[in-house]
Amino acid sequence: MTEAEYLHTTRTVYDAVAVDYEKLLRDELDDKPLDRAMLAAFAELVRAAGLGPVADLGCGPGRVTAHLSSLGVDVFGVDLSAEMIAVARRRHPGLRFEQGSMTALDLADNTLGGALVWYSTVHTPPELLPKVFAECHRVLAPGAPLLLAFKVGDLRRPLGQAYGHELPLTLDVYWLAPDHLAALLNESGLPVDARLIREPDASEKPRQGQQGFFLTHKPTES
Ligand SMILES: C[S@@+](CC[C@H](N)C(=O)[O-])C[C@H]1O[C@@H](n2cnc3c(N)ncnc32)[C@H](O)[C@@H]1O
Repeated sequence: MTEAEYLHTTRTVYDAVAVDYEKLLRDELDDKPLDRAMLAAFAELVRAAGLGPVADLGCGPGRVTAHLSSLGVDVFGVDLSAEMIAVARRRHPGLRFEQGSMTALDLADNTLGGALVWYSTVHTPPELLPKVFAECHRVLAPGAPLLLAFKVGDLRRPLGQAYGHELPLTLDVYWLAPDHLAALLNESGLPVDARLIREPDASEKPRQGQQGFFLTHKPTES
């Protein structure tokens, strides 16, 4: 799949499901203490480093952006889907959300105090991940952390239905092997500092597998 096809398909699908996605996942973090623990650790690292605002890249309806904000993080959201951005702005009027792509961010070099990539590379064809990670590396300030959530495995699952919708286009979901993903991050200059791999919880079984969370950072000497 080309980059243009991936961006077009992802944008079209999330524009179609944005309202229902927000309704279905609004409170999802409440029942995920380990996910919240990784977000809390990330927030603490960001606050301690004090290097600038955090971008929630692929923020969707802004539910995790708002959670980080509640932890005292200066955070804004970026998403490919105009409908997701519209939903996020309506739902969280006090926060900033902008349309944009992780493949070419409208952000200056070395300016972010942190980046959150929370299940937003799950549709990125693996061959395009180095481009996304290079872009994250470019915009992060030296020393700034990045937290990535992903689906663990080694498969591509084409989705025809999701969030109560027949999707207008088939959307691929990629499950990635942790060592493969860690190698891609390392090659992009983002060494992995911590890994959490957890089993699927009751709400994720039986269709979902293990969930992965990597804490990385941009080294000060890179
Ligand atoms: C599974 S949703 C996760 C949304 C949000 N992080 C959350 O956890 O609720 C994936 C999101 O990533 C966004 N996305 C995918 N590829 C993107 C890209 N290249 N740039 C910006 N957003 C992207 C989609 O539009 C969608 O909103």
